[in-house]
Amino acid sequence: MPPEPVAGPAADIDSLFQRGYDRLYADDSTGAVRAFAAAVCLEPGHGEAWAALAEANGGGAAAVQAYAHAVVVDPGGWMWRVGLAEALRLAGSLNDAIAAYRELSGERADSAIVRLGHARALSVAGRPAEALAEYREAVALRPDDAEAALELAEALTGSGDALAAVELLQPLSRRAPDDAGLHHAVGRAWIALREPEKALTALRRARDLDAEDRLGAAPLIAALEAGEGADLSAAYVRALFDRYADRFDQDLLGKLGYAAPELLRAAVDRVIGPATGLRVFDLGCGTGLAGIGFRPLAGFLAGVDLSPRMVEKARERALYDDLRVGDVVAALEEVPESWNLLVAADVLVYLGDLAPVFAASAKALVPGGRFAATVERSAEEGFTLGPTRRYAHAEAYVRATAEAAGLTIRLMEHCTPRREKGVGVPGLLFVAERPADRPQIA
Ligand SMILES: C[S@@+](CC[C@H](N)C(=O)[O-])C[C@H]1O[C@@H](n2cnc3c(N)ncnc32)[C@H](O)[C@@H]1O
Repeated sequence: MPPEPVAGPAADIDSLFQRGYDRLYADDSTGAVRAFAAAVCLEPGHGEAWAALAEANGGGAAAVQAYAHAVVVDPGGWMWRVGLAEALRLAGSLNDAIAAYRELSGERADSAIVRLGHARALSVAGRPAEALAEYREAVALRPDDAEAALELAEALTGSGDALAAVELLQPLSRRAPDDAGLHHAVGRAWIALREPEKALTALRRARDLDAEDRLGAAPLIAALEAGEGADLSAAYVRALFDRYADRFDQDLLGKLGYAAPELLRAAVDRVIGPATGLRVFDLGCGTGLAGIGFRPLAGFLAGVDLSPRMVEKARERALYDDLRVGDVVAALEEVPESWNLLVAADVLVYLGDLAPVFAASAKALVPGGRFAATVERSAEEGFTLGPTRRYAHAEAYVRATAEAAGLTIRLMEHCTPRREKGVGVPGLLFVAERPADRPQIA
């Protein structure tokens, strides 16, 4: 239902529209919502008034509802239907958004805005192959749209075709030589292609154009200059989180609605019941958000992370008995049979192939010990690299890979670990156990 409209002298629909748009352009969304709510009260059959009310609402369930009204009262209104599909996407109703976009592109295959929205919804829903096809269509329809091209390039790199990403972006960056984002994306595609020199050239141009280094070229350049060409994916993760460390907590807990640590703690409580005195190892501990939740269960709490800046932040919390900079698999391999509980909150998204981490966990856990983690859920087989350079994993893959390492899945649930561009990301949460009475598979 729309909010109470403004009380005042009776107004006609045109002046309510005028007032609503004036308020909207003045960034006064409350005033705009009031004016458009008055307009739909005055003329409930006016599709544009409902659509304007939806736009003023900015997103969420209220926008979905208002666009849905617009479509009901004016089913021929193409823009209201596009608005409804987009509002569904932004509200996280991905299946409904995908269905709406599919219907729209069936009617107008040449609508770039529809193709792009469809691609984004498919991408967040963990369907990268279909998303890639839609991104290609969107860019073919609007070859000069740099934003769509950047998203297509990320999807291409994610699908393992970074060379196609370079081929797509290079002509665009020649035409827009001052666009730091394009050079940065070219640099990251060269990293994926294991071409450090070419990556450095593109990233240095990006850094020169981006005085405050908002894109984060500098840490990548530093890692490349330090000769980390052998494992650029680790260098990338370290550079990303070193740069991000100062605003990580604020971003994740605020706009990203990060919930992985609490979801994991609740799941562990359900599986093991009340516990204290455990030896807990927080894998990819970051700034220590999971440490806060798991400290009460731990007699000894350790953490490891690739990023020195993140570890520094974790140290400031004074929660951990041991903290180190390093790779999770290497850290697990150090001491066999030593942990009751391993926790990986939003970390396996950077690993892709989970076989090494499951094998190392099975050896590092005491018999009966547990490994609790979140991943992003893929609707495709195995694991896929998404446009945000995070992996998504299929439920069947997680199960099979854990079991192949000798772990038993005790709990596996769908969850929403965080949001991306306002949309809930489909996730999986699992607790695996090293059986007490069976040796793990070597
Ligand atoms: C999204 S953050 C999550 C941090 C923390 N677990 C939390 O819940 O707040 C992911 C962290 O995993 C770390 N990471 C990614 N891959 C890693 C690896 N192979 N070894 C160690 N840490 C890793 C990153 O440096 C980053 O700090």
